[in-house]
Amino acid sequence: MQGFSDERPFEDRLQLLPSPLGPAELLKDPGFGKVFTDHMVTIRWTKDRGWHDAEVTARAPVTLDPAAAVLHYGQEIFEGLKAYNLSDGSIALFRAEQNARRFQQSAARMAMPDLPEAVFLQAVDELVKIDSAWIPKADGSLYLRPFMFATEAFLGVRPSHEYLFMLIASSVGSYFKGGEKPVTVWLSDRYTRAAEGGTGAAKCGGNYAASLLAQAEAMEHGCDQVVFLDAAEHRWVEELGGMNVFVVMNDGSLVTPPLSGTILPGITRDAIITLARKDGRTVREERYSMDQWRADAASGKLKEAFACGTAAVVASIGKIKSSKGDIVIADGNTGPITAAIKAKLVGIQRGDIADEFGWVRRIG
Ligand code: PLP
Ligand code: COI
Repeated sequence: MQGFSDERPFEDRLQLLPSPLGPAELLKDPGFGKVFTDHMVTIRWTKDRGWHDAEVTARAPVTLDPAAAVLHYGQEIFEGLKAYNLSDGSIALFRAEQNARRFQQSAARMAMPDLPEAVFLQAVDELVKIDSAWIPKADGSLYLRPFMFATEAFLGVRPSHEYLFMLIASSVGSYFKGGEKPVTVWLSDRYTRAAEGGTGAAKCGGNYAASLLAQAEAMEHGCDQVVFLDAAEHRWVEELGGMNVFVVMNDGSLVTPPLSGTILPGITRDAIITLARKDGRTVREERYSMDQWRADAASGKLKEAFACGTAAVVASIGKIKSSKGDIVIADGNTGPITAAIKAKLVGIQRGDIADEFGWVRRIG
């Protein structure tokens, strides 16, 4: 394959087209996913040539044939990871190789080609370096969005023979509008996200398309996110529309749904399990039913609950709303264990707490 290394010099590939306002103005209040940087990475794949034509260019619209397979059969996958400005002035990525591996797993599930981990990581590094002025200094970060989709023009149902990998970046602040305030989630008893044998463990666009109606229902009920139950029994808590979920018991232990194949194997979830166990906390990856959640919240056994993911990091859950009534978790405020887990994770991500697991990789 032709990687970045055997392309023209990086500077020659670059067409700088700065955004009219420039980073300083846009970074004041970026919100989430609205402010985009100046550049993007594209790499093409064809059945005959494999990966080729890796480029970093000005961020620009993509031209697609109207018959491109992605527009008809939804063959698309994506990732989400963040780059941070650390207090020592360096730039770092958090567990980027895990995103590269999950991208490969998602690709395999969607019958798409395997992008080598080194190419994924190099694409990320190059974009972060060229757009480093777009990384917010204080609380924010640069959210990186690698994605791949089927570009072959044909109308038969089979895996495409051509794909485009792209990487774009967005300067972001807090995912939720309320910032640090605990979120309220809506329990969907009408829609499910994924069934056994389906694509729940893959990060494919179709999973999110299928979740949008449930998410819209959540928003109509004044909630920030939707909680999905399992598709077979409508009983077991799975995950939120875009985050994994944990509950904290009165003995300080954590419970989170297991990686059964129907939920996304979250990298934040994995980091939290590792950190909590290292701190001597018991973490059970086991099925937890909504009835149990309701009973434990009522009895006081359940003390805290939180959502976690790259975009949201750790967001405490104050209340669950459902057609069967609301569940307020403890006093509805962020609990001490959630706050401590968040502080530790964010401290490591931002280079303020020693990274004993090798999760933070400085670049540049
Ligand atoms: N679950 C879903 C459905 C998600 O979209 C995400 C976000 O990526 C997560 C869980 C959390 O995964 P991660 O911690 O790797 O971002
Ligand atoms: C992420 O956390 O990276 C996601 O992709 C989830 C989405 C809610 C932005």
